[in-house]
Amino acid sequence: MPNISLKNLLARTAVEESVSMECVPKTFAGLPLYGLILVVIGVIILLTVLILELVLLPKRRKLSKEIKKNLLTHAVVTGGSSGIGLAVAKELVKNDCKYITLIARNESKLNKAKEELDAYVTTNDKKSIIQVYSVDVGVVDKVTKAAEDICTSSDVPCPTMLFNVAGTSSSAAFVSTDFQEFERLMNINYLGTAYVTRAFLPYMMKKEGTDENHPRSIMFTSSQAGQLGVFGYTAYSASKYALKGFAEALQMEVGRENITVQLSFPPDTDTPGFEEENKDKPEETRLISETSGLFSAEQVASKMVKSALQKRPPFNVYFGLEGWMLANLTAGMSPVHSILDAIVQIFFKGLLRFISLFYLFDFRNIVHKVGKKRRAEKSE
Ligand SMILES: NC(=O)c1ccc[n+]([C@@H]2O[C@H](COP(=O)([O-])OP(=O)(O)OC[C@H]3O[C@@H](n4cnc5c(N)ncnc54)[C@H](OP(=O)(O)O)[C@@H]3O)[C@@H](O)[C@H]2O)c1
Ligand SMILES: *[C@@H]1O[C@H](CO)[C@@H](O)[C@H](O)[C@H]1NC(C)=O
Ligand SMILES: *[C@@H]1O[C@H](CO)[C@@H](O)[C@H](O)[C@H]1NC(C)=O
Ligand SMILES: *[C@@H]1O[C@H](CO)[C@@H](O)[C@H](O)[C@H]1NC(C)=O
Repeated sequence: MPNISLKNLLARTAVEESVSMECVPKTFAGLPLYGLILVVIGVIILLTVLILELVLLPKRRKLSKEIKKNLLTHAVVTGGSSGIGLAVAKELVKNDCKYITLIARNESKLNKAKEELDAYVTTNDKKSIIQVYSVDVGVVDKVTKAAEDICTSSDVPCPTMLFNVAGTSSSAAFVSTDFQEFERLMNINYLGTAYVTRAFLPYMMKKEGTDENHPRSIMFTSSQAGQLGVFGYTAYSASKYALKGFAEALQMEVGRENITVQLSFPPDTDTPGFEEENKDKPEETRLISETSGLFSAEQVASKMVKSALQKRPPFNVYFGLEGWMLANLTAGMSPVHSILDAIVQIFFKGLLRFISLFYLFDFRNIVHKVGKKRRAEKSE
């Protein structure tokens, strides 16, 4: 019967190690061992950089003035009548985008947004032309018709940028969430985005027989709740996670057409939609989301537009320190956009995961504490 107690095992490894240590040469091919290790690490880093530069990183985009100007020809912004979408439209005006089309359902809200933007154009001496189109992004026939109307109009050129911002949220504990709510959120947040993109993309791709190969850009709006599941967001988180798979698959297809795909993950942002959602948000959800702070719609929009106009637009668009941590931590198999991006992911992911444990600990405390409070209130 072999003795496999832990103590014996340890003793045996110690013996084996001391034996094998003796056999290790202190030098290798004339180099001291530590030097060799350094050389190997250096070679690995060099190879990583070379692979990235030569193979993986997007090549296009010296982002000449001409390309940028071309990109800023016609931007379509879904959800452009309120909150982040409206702020994106304003940011596009600032960047001298020629045509901007806002898409949303409520016509009076759309017209009010157009008025606001027109006033902004005049007071800032800009030239952008704003048009609005009322359609529900979750109704496929209507979306197809909208894309056709917008893209085949003779006086406005085909879209060069598409910002999918339309979306909605709600929060409640899973068992208190209506069955229909899962369908509603999936319909607007995921299907609405897929339908709009499917309808507009053919018009954004290079036309047969023409030789223009200017870059185009598509942005999706997920959420920090699309990077980690949060209490109360069973319906919402799932609809936002769906966008990640969709965007990753799409970017692999349209990259060779010079179309960039980006996915943004806004944290809590001060918008009419956010205010509405707060009305019946569970305390747990509120306390957990507040960890990342509250951003203004302008801050979020400014980063979204800036990153779309960047030389090598990042696939993941994040906001703030927590956003940075989450983006690098959950990058998975998403594409890299810079050497720094790859280096951070290769060398710091373990550390970020370690830090994330403290957040998880904190979240669990919140959930338990509020639960205790609820039980106490109930029994009173
Ligand atoms: N605010 C936040 O804290 C936060 C955080 C993370 C992610 N996000 C995401 O960012 C996006 C914008 O949020 P927000 O806070 O700016 O929201 P918001 O103020 O409620 O604005 C939402 C916009 O989307 C439009 N919209 C909603 N459902 C639509 C539909 N079925 N068809 C067409 N348009 C529709 C709305 O217009 P109509 O209602 O007239 O259609 C409105 O223009 C959403 O995707 C949201 O999930 C927001
Ligand atoms: C559209 O929005 C306005 C407020 O901006 C609101 O009064 C009106 O009821 C909304 N219309 C519909 C059909 O929801
Ligand atoms: C993409 O851009 C590159 C460089 O600008 C160009 O050589 C290539 O033809 C373009 N591809 C398409 C499909 O337009
Ligand atoms: C990871 O961090 C680097 C450095 O801040 C950043 O450039 C990069 O965009 C981040 N990666 C992702 C996937 O967000």
